[in-house]
Amino acid sequence: MSGGRTSTTRSTGRNDWSSWPTYQASILGLPGKYWYPVMWSNQLARKPVAVTLLGRPIVFFRDKGVPYALHDRCPHRGVPLSYGRQQFPGTISCPYHGWTFDLESGVLRAVITDGPDSPLCGKVAVESYPVAERLGMIWAFVGDGEGSPPPIDEVIPRELRENSFSMGGRIDVRTGGWRFAAENGYDEGHAKYLHRNSLWRFFKLMPTWSRTRVVPGGDGWITRVQDEVHWEATFPGLGKWSGQRWWKRGAKARMLGASPSKAPKVDPVIRDLNVPGNQSIRLPGLLRIVHSRFIHYEWYVPSTEDEYIYVQVFVQFKKGFAAVIARLRYLFFVRWLFHGQFTGQDRWMVDVIDAPPERLYRPDVSITRWRALCEQAPKTGQALIDGRAHLSLATPLESENREGGGDGSDY
Ligand code: FES
Ligand code: FE2
Repeated sequence: MSGGRTSTTRSTGRNDWSSWPTYQASILGLPGKYWYPVMWSNQLARKPVAVTLLGRPIVFFRDKGVPYALHDRCPHRGVPLSYGRQQFPGTISCPYHGWTFDLESGVLRAVITDGPDSPLCGKVAVESYPVAERLGMIWAFVGDGEGSPPPIDEVIPRELRENSFSMGGRIDVRTGGWRFAAENGYDEGHAKYLHRNSLWRFFKLMPTWSRTRVVPGGDGWITRVQDEVHWEATFPGLGKWSGQRWWKRGAKARMLGASPSKAPKVDPVIRDLNVPGNQSIRLPGLLRIVHSRFIHYEWYVPSTEDEYIYVQVFVQFKKGFAAVIARLRYLFFVRWLFHGQFTGQDRWMVDVIDAPPERLYRPDVSITRWRALCEQAPKTGQALIDGRAHLSLATPLESENREGGGDGSDY
């Protein structure tokens, strides 16, 4: 990017998304298949639940405790199977003429209104999707291309597989493209300005501006590393600006005075993660914010062209009675301030972003690194979550980052 161009200039190659053709085409999700979290386990009980995932209508149904997912369109006349009911174990029947599909395979097992010898049985099928339950959520393996699913545990963040924790979260369908949501989550510049007066950050000083790099991390993450943080700045001809408020001064003193060894208590699990920075993202759209005492995750699950399923999960690595306290802290505090008002500010922005065209600025290195990561998404088959996809990201970073900046303390 060269400086000094106006927002209407199209010759920089950064005003549209042509530098990221795969990403540009991924309105309904990245190519390849991935496990996506869809809903809370307890939302799937006796009734079928219809969900649009990556533009596909899908019906989820639980039978004898096991969740299943089928394409939600009866091949007979196109009625949603989610309007139907179960007539035989292991199946679901369309409400219109009683075509009855196997929950596991999607194959037509019976046609109630055509008699037991219906010649169509076994010859017609709807697509079935692999389903799993983890973290108290229903997950489905959805996307383009061939490929069987990797074990679901491989896509659960390692720290959640290896430790006990207390967890709370919210799942909502929000308006806006999933890519805008992911970009907003990893966006370096916005939190310190958009969220500066949020209730969640009421007592915490937010930086004015920062400089950041993005580095490849393990387990498929790319991580923002903070090189400089500026708590106030003087803008030529305009004056001084700071997000500082008198009630936040103590926070500023603590922050400026704290050396790493004197840093506030860090949860041992989080310390052992040894992350290079506290904000990371990985395919196919999972953000991780590592704080000293908690980790916040956000999944951006493509639904329709302008809706996404926004999954927020807040984890505290506590056991026993401490886990109960952590749970209460989530229910009475975090859920409303962080997963409510704070990310409600993000909802507001994601809904109104209108790009491209766009004119990126230095902190947007976070966005361009994320897009570059998506360009490397496997085009077919299963998700690659082992870090190899990111090795080639290290080299072009510095030149691209010349205008870049950031911080890691916005949450
Ligand atoms: Fe489904 Fe006729 S439309 S059985
Ligand atoms: Fe935000």
